[in-house]
Amino acid sequence: MSSVPDGSLAEAFTKEHHDIDAAIENYLASTHEGPEQRAKMLLEAVIALRRHIYLEEEVVFPDLPRATLMMPLMVMHREHGELWRRMDVLEESLQSGSADEQLMADCQELLSLLDNHNSKEEPIIYPQMDTALSVQEQQKVAHL
Ligand SMILES: [Fe+2]
Ligand SMILES: [Fe+2]
Repeated sequence: MSSVPDGSLAEAFTKEHHDIDAAIENYLASTHEGPEQRAKMLLEAVIALRRHIYLEEEVVFPDLPRATLMMPLMVMHREHGELWRRMDVLEESLQSGSADEQLMADCQELLSLLDNHNSKEEPIIYPQMDTALSVQEQQKVAHL
C-alpha cells in the first residue's frame, strides 16, 4: 500500500480509494487504446481493489472495536461481498471477450457501488483505524 507520511492509516486507505476510482475512470476514458492494453488497465484496477478489500477484511477491521462498530462493520462486510462478486463478473466478461459497452456499463456500476461504500467507510470506519491501531501497527499495515 502507499506510504503513510504522517502515520495515518486512514489517510493511506482513503488515498487508495481515490487511486482505485482513478484507475477505473482511466480505463473508461482509454477508448483510444487497444483491447489488450485496456484489459490490462481494468485487471490492474480489479487487483488493487481486491487487495484493498483483503487488507480491510483480514488485517485491519478485526482490530477495530466490535462493541461500537458491529453494525457498520456488518454493512461493510456485506458490501465487500457485493463488490467482490461484481469484480468476478467483470473478469469473466473480460475473459469471454464481452463487448466494450457491456464492460463499461459494468464499470460504471462498480464505481457507483464504490462511491456508496466509500462514502460510509471513510467517515465511520476509517477514523477508528487510527485510534484502535498503534502507530507501529499502522506502519506495518502500510508496508504490506
Ligand atoms: Fe471497504
Ligand atoms: Fe476501503
